[in-house]
Amino acid sequence: MQMKLTIAGSGSYLPPTTVENRDFTRIVDTSDEWIRSRTGICRRHFSDGELTVEMGVKAAEKALADADLAATDLDLILVSSVTPDYVTPTISCLLQGYLGADQAFALDINVACSGFVYGLDLAARYLQDPAIHHVLLVASEKLSRVTDFTDRSTCVLFGDGAAAVVLTADGPGQELASCLKADGRQAQALTACYPDRNHPFGPALAPENSPESSGDQPALRFPQATPFIHMDGREVYRFAVSSIEQGIRTVTDRAGYQVEQLDWLIPHQANNRILEAAAKRLGLPMSKVYSCLEEIGNTSSSSVGIALDRCRQAGLLQTGQLVAFSGFGGGLTHGTILVKI
Ligand code: COA
Repeated sequence: MQMKLTIAGSGSYLPPTTVENRDFTRIVDTSDEWIRSRTGICRRHFSDGELTVEMGVKAAEKALADADLAATDLDLILVSSVTPDYVTPTISCLLQGYLGADQAFALDINVACSGFVYGLDLAARYLQDPAIHHVLLVASEKLSRVTDFTDRSTCVLFGDGAAAVVLTADGPGQELASCLKADGRQAQALTACYPDRNHPFGPALAPENSPESSGDQPALRFPQATPFIHMDGREVYRFAVSSIEQGIRTVTDRAGYQVEQLDWLIPHQANNRILEAAAKRLGLPMSKVYSCLEEIGNTSSSSVGIALDRCRQAGLLQTGQLVAFSGFGGGLTHGTILVKI
């Protein structure tokens, strides 16, 4: 289904503290060479106590200024985060209140690194409603909050940051096709959990009473899960490469285009090897795959938004171009949309 979707403004924010690969050699057994060659990451930014919502506000204010709109012009605020500051209130409500977006309702999205792409698709669908003129989509992530800095296989990958776009149906842009998918059967590949506690009236559901993973049904409890990210890197790698390929083939096919007609692929910034492998399978030159992960690391759902903002600010995106956005991550989830901007 084709839907009106124009990017009226964008912004992004990275906290000022930069951590180089070599800084990690002080805390785990690793090297700049290993991190660069396996991931393409050179440095990342970490919050110095800034909240997730505070980073999101900074990106949102830039996007509103870029769109030349006031917060009171917004009808809907979508915020994607796996690292919100509170269980309640929602990060989207906090942002709505702080910005003074009094006309907007506010909704959180949590599909891990796919969140920005899911948010673009949700925005396009809400913008079909004539009562909704402007949607603010924000992604903000403080992954340093859920990173295990004793685990060398994950701690070198992540960074903090935020991104925002203002979206409208009033413009030339169109979402031509989307392909959003979930694969909860592979949930154990990427986990982080809330700390659990017993209530005062007895033990919490004992593990022996919990539903067993049996036959066709996967487990609901993951012995490896802690409040910090635990990842089966190889499993996620395989999922990521095939998700990008499958997503791009599906959206181009649905919209009646060939992959080679793409002007840009703006993917989740997780690992350059993932991007190179997916581009190779698609026959897409790397010159059409935007990457900035060298500078930011994996910022989960913020990464597609940060990449989009950098592309726009660098003047790489022109009206009429065919741009695919692709995200993948915890859940497991993945999402790809094709936009004529
Ligand atoms: N520094 C040095 N060595 C490291 C290391 C680090 N930071 N992390 C892991 N290693 C070691 C491992 O211990 C292993 O050593 P061993 O052979 O002695 O056991 C070796 O490097 C190879 O580990 P492996 O896990 O096979 O590496 P890899 O080539 O698969 O790369 C990832 C690891 C995490 C970079 C890769 O699996 C990956 O990119 N996965 C996808 C992750 C991702 O992007 N997730 C986010 C999705 S949203």
